[in-house]
Amino acid sequence: MESPLNTSILKRAQEKRLVEIYVHNLRDYSLDKHRRVDDYPFGGQAGMVLQCEPIDRAITFLKEQRTYDEVIYTSPDGETFCQYMANQLSLCQNLIILCGHYKGIDYRIREHLVTREISIGDYVLTGGELAAMVMSDAIVRLIPGAIGDEQSALSDSFQDNLLAPPVFTRPFDYKGWKAPEILLSGHEAKIREWELHQSLERTKRLRPDLQ
Ligand code: ADE
Repeated sequence: MESPLNTSILKRAQEKRLVEIYVHNLRDYSLDKHRRVDDYPFGGQAGMVLQCEPIDRAITFLKEQRTYDEVIYTSPDGETFCQYMANQLSLCQNLIILCGHYKGIDYRIREHLVTREISIGDYVLTGGELAAMVMSDAIVRLIPGAIGDEQSALSDSFQDNLLAPPVFTRPFDYKGWKAPEILLSGHEAKIREWELHQSLERTKRLRPDLQ
């Protein structure tokens, strides 16, 4: 199936056998003759709720083949995803990401099977799939070898709770817009010092909450 999981970094990392990503359809684990996986919520509110059985069967089936470090559930009420979590999760061997949908999943699954609940931000998506994609991209690119220049993941924004410094390339002078001279000085220590200063200034100005 053509999916964003098969493009860009995620595609390359899979081709290089650095990661394997499998997408499972909960309907395949339904025992219902119409392959239903949801039902009306107890209590009469609007919306549908994913049932325990297909989720439990899917997770049980997967756990029979591998040991999982985490069973992550994507939900707006989870802890907010951040670079530190991406770093942590990139060190794991196997992860299950369970995508919520509709009104959510039967809470008993969250109580008994889910080990970590993650939100990608304070807004509500239609389903957890996009959240799972966002997290997968952020996690997989940190696996050594996934991105061309391994050094570059370390200099990303947020790696030290700092925004990255601005970057420039040729030409030095474009329509009179000049790149900072210091970057062409060849003076390594001064360049690093300039970058750190830029990072600190940009973080203080744009994301004071990070400090
Ligand atoms: N599902 C719906 N909204 C979500 C969010 N903000 N983060 C993670 N999963 C979600």
